[in-house]
Amino acid sequence: MDKENTMVTSRQHSSFQKPQGSLRQILHNQFPEIPQARLPGGFDRVGDIGVVGITPEAEPFESEIGAYILKQNANMRVVAKRAGEYEGEFRIRPLEVIAGEQRLTTVHRENEVVLHLDLAQVYYSVRSSHERRRLAALVLPGERICVLCSGVGPFPLVISRHSEASEVIGIEKNPVAHGYALKNLRANRRLRNVRFYEGDVLEVLPQLEPGFDRILIVLPYGGERLLPAALQALRPGGSLHFYDMQAKGCHTATLAKVKAASLALGRDILVQQVVRCGNCGPSVQRVCLDGVC
Ligand SMILES: C[S@@+](CC[C@H](N)C(=O)[O-])C[C@H]1O[C@@H](n2cnc3c(N)ncnc32)[C@H](O)[C@@H]1O
Repeated sequence: MDKENTMVTSRQHSSFQKPQGSLRQILHNQFPEIPQARLPGGFDRVGDIGVVGITPEAEPFESEIGAYILKQNANMRVVAKRAGEYEGEFRIRPLEVIAGEQRLTTVHRENEVVLHLDLAQVYYSVRSSHERRRLAALVLPGERICVLCSGVGPFPLVISRHSEASEVIGIEKNPVAHGYALKNLRANRRLRNVRFYEGDVLEVLPQLEPGFDRILIVLPYGGERLLPAALQALRPGGSLHFYDMQAKGCHTATLAKVKAASLALGRDILVQQVVRCGNCGPSVQRVCLDGVC
């Protein structure tokens, strides 16, 4: 959630004076017929796109709500609503533009890297930006790192930008996301130690030189099927970061997946921590298991 944008300040934009209060309160003043709790409390900001949740009660007013959010945010050009959950192999979330320009392409900046992307065709979540910075901070000088399921490249680029890794590789199956990753590498031309490969991890990873110091599996639904290939490519004593979805407050299933895969290969895993890195609905959370294997 882009906190900065959930609060409205009294700064002036041309002739429009911003009212004070939370977005939900302000919208309720404009649309009193909608219960306050059913109005958007904020939005995710991806480049110049604001992404909001619209409840069924607010739907009849969605274009006015979108236009109002646009008016209040000087550099925003598009407001889109979430029109479903992340879906399919490429984990794309259906979005519908409700105000502004009819596009879902944008340029976003996070953790001092530039990312071109098209939310209609690729996965990208601003909510993982802290997690990417956390990962980058764990990297030791000289490490060789592989990011499985790298999307438009945020993990490899942020790790490269904020560490002294010797090499950071990303593997991604969605050809559109891979195309953006290459574009993003060109856009961040100072980052010279990153390489992106297009294809299925299970086909591409075994062709790369093994012995990685650190491997990330960024596929929270079904990433366990990549564990055997990941562990084979990891040097003994290397670091594994495995993303998973878990019932809130419970990590046993995640631990069991990683333990089973390492035992099957005759390797032991020392679990360092399981970090909570996002909520997906009221009862499910996104976690990252950090371990040495
Ligand atoms: C949750 S997204 C994460 C993307 C990126 N790491 C990020 O943080 O923005 C998972 C990505 O895995 C890709 N993917 C799914 N199965 C794959 C596979 N077998 N091999 C390579 N990429 C895969 C999807 O296309 C999607 O881009």
